Amino acid sequence: MMSLKINSLENYQEVYQRSIENPSLFWNEIAENFVWKKKWKKTLEYDWSIPETKWFLEGKLNITENCLDRHLELKGDQTAIIWEPNNPEEEAEHISYKQLHRRVCSFANVLKNNGVVKGDRICIYMPMVSEIAIAVLACARIGAIHSVVFAGFSSTALAARINDAQCKVLLTADGGFRGAKITPLKEIADEALKTCPSIKKSIVLQRTKQSISWNSNLDVWWHEELDKVDDHCPAEVMDAEDKLFILYTSGSTGNPKGMVHTCGGYMVYATYSFLNVFQYTEGDVYWCTADIGWITGHSYILYGPLASGATTVMFEGVPSYPDFGRFWEVCEKHKVNQFYTAPTAIRALAKHSLSFVNAYDLSNLKVLGTVGEPINEEAWHWYNENIGKKKCPIVDTWWQTETGGMMISSLANVTKDKPTFATVPLPGIQPVLLNTEGQEISETKAEGILAIKHPWPSLARTIYGDHKRYKNVYFSAYANYYFPGDGALRDKDGNYRITGRVDDVVIVSGHNLGTAPIENAINEHDLVIESAIVGFPDDIKGNALYAYVILYDENQASEDLVKEINQLISKKIGPIAKCDKIQFVSGLPKTRSGKIMRRILRKIASNDISNLGDVSTLLNPLIVEEIIKNRH
Ligand code: PRX
Repeated sequence: MMSLKINSLENYQEVYQRSIENPSLFWNEIAENFVWKKKWKKTLEYDWSIPETKWFLEGKLNITENCLDRHLELKGDQTAIIWEPNNPEEEAEHISYKQLHRRVCSFANVLKNNGVVKGDRICIYMPMVSEIAIAVLACARIGAIHSVVFAGFSSTALAARINDAQCKVLLTADGGFRGAKITPLKEIADEALKTCPSIKKSIVLQRTKQSISWNSNLDVWWHEELDKVDDHCPAEVMDAEDKLFILYTSGSTGNPKGMVHTCGGYMVYATYSFLNVFQYTEGDVYWCTADIGWITGHSYILYGPLASGATTVMFEGVPSYPDFGRFWEVCEKHKVNQFYTAPTAIRALAKHSLSFVNAYDLSNLKVLGTVGEPINEEAWHWYNENIGKKKCPIVDTWWQTETGGMMISSLANVTKDKPTFATVPLPGIQPVLLNTEGQEISETKAEGILAIKHPWPSLARTIYGDHKRYKNVYFSAYANYYFPGDGALRDKDGNYRITGRVDDVVIVSGHNLGTAPIENAINEHDLVIESAIVGFPDDIKGNALYAYVILYDENQASEDLVKEINQLISKKIGPIAKCDKIQFVSGLPKTRSGKIMRRILRKIASNDISNLGDVSTLLNPLIVEEIIKNRH
């Protein structure tokens, strides 16, 4: 058995070399560090022309035995989860590994009592309370496939995700606290369930105690169901390639993509990357501020840290409530050692007085991290100076819902960080830069399209119900490479810097938003003929959305219509997809084949109109001038 943790730059170089010379041998050794019910027969089998990837073939396991049972003997009383409430007056929860194990087993029995069997899909639409962690792990315990939908999504978005996966049970709550607001989760879920015939039961957690409507054919109370069960629940035997969860992410066209992650490879990679990037050490308190509704929450609040036997903090609230010192207050209160957040949050907090930071003791911090979008130089330095006090390395972790775990990142105190660069690949990850013809660029210092050359264990195996789309999106642009949709540059030392998306996805506040679904929502308005969405730079959010909208009757353009369009987006997708700017136009710049030239719209939205390139090939070149003249 080899040790999981890399401990020096030389060690990283040596391990990395080994991992790419013989990936199967390498991952075979790493996987030995986990609890398997039956050892795998073959480490890797893949063919990306199909595409198909299988890791740890015929291996049997249950991820919750790795996250819970195996820690019981030595660290049963150690805190597994510290839950910090939205309201600082409410008491935090400290859940030990023993307690977490018991609560997961009990809730797994609740699921069973409500008809859930291995392979069923369970939708989880819940606030950031400890029960969401328990729900996720309880599904994994019995082999049900969880599909967590972020609690900020609308009823239409929730219904689409439930229907896509044909979920049998919904886990939700009466409401959720977020800052000064309450999200009426049950009410939103009720609306969604009107169009979700696959749902046979809805198990409702009481959190806000607000009044809700009740459908006795469907709804049962979480706490009442718990009274009916005991806390003994053996872990279901899962094949390494059985589905563990589905998590939806936006695409450049059509419906959200239900990325499917499997049990064995995901567990191995989420854990290995967690330990190495953060250099988590026994006894540390680690805090990732993400929501469990995103992949970051799955891999690096729950599975990676728990399989490592770590103490992981879960936060119900937002960075601005009750004031802008909330993150730092929590860091002091729980003596946080590793802190992982999004550049958007850093930029938002950097706008406020340093007194919000300096009021708290941050001396326990050892490692800082960022995820979800490129971090700009200014935010990096603010984070480094004011939070890390120039003594904490910053791991800028590039990865995706699809990759399951961090792909390019420095390893804290092991490899060097560099402002605005995600830096180096993790062991087993083989990034390359391609030119537009799809050839690998051999020079070290270069800019191009980022692609990955060889499978790694936590690659999503398919898009739920649509393997063809999986192939088209990730494996067709460049044969035999995984194509993540990002551009990157590489410096002379081989450090990667992610430059942004190369497709029609915009990253707003670290959230991946496809332009197509938002356009579809806008187009549903009776007065709208067509629309086009692009991103433009925003100081806080990284990017904000700019909509160009064509109306049947230009005279109908009004401030009220702008509001209505944003309300429609909120209803169809969720408030995160609202547009900061909406411009009514009489036409859109299109190629002769009818494709919208988003490049031009992006430049106009960014007020970068000096070089729009050749517009003469457009179907309607004059429209460009009109759009520029009336831009916001
Ligand atoms: O464009 C990249 C950006 O976020 C995308 C993935 O989004 P999602 O699947 O929602 O996962 C976010 C959390 C892992 C990527 O294709 N992105 C993610 N991390 C970084 C980043 N861009 C630059 N630097 C990063 N560290």
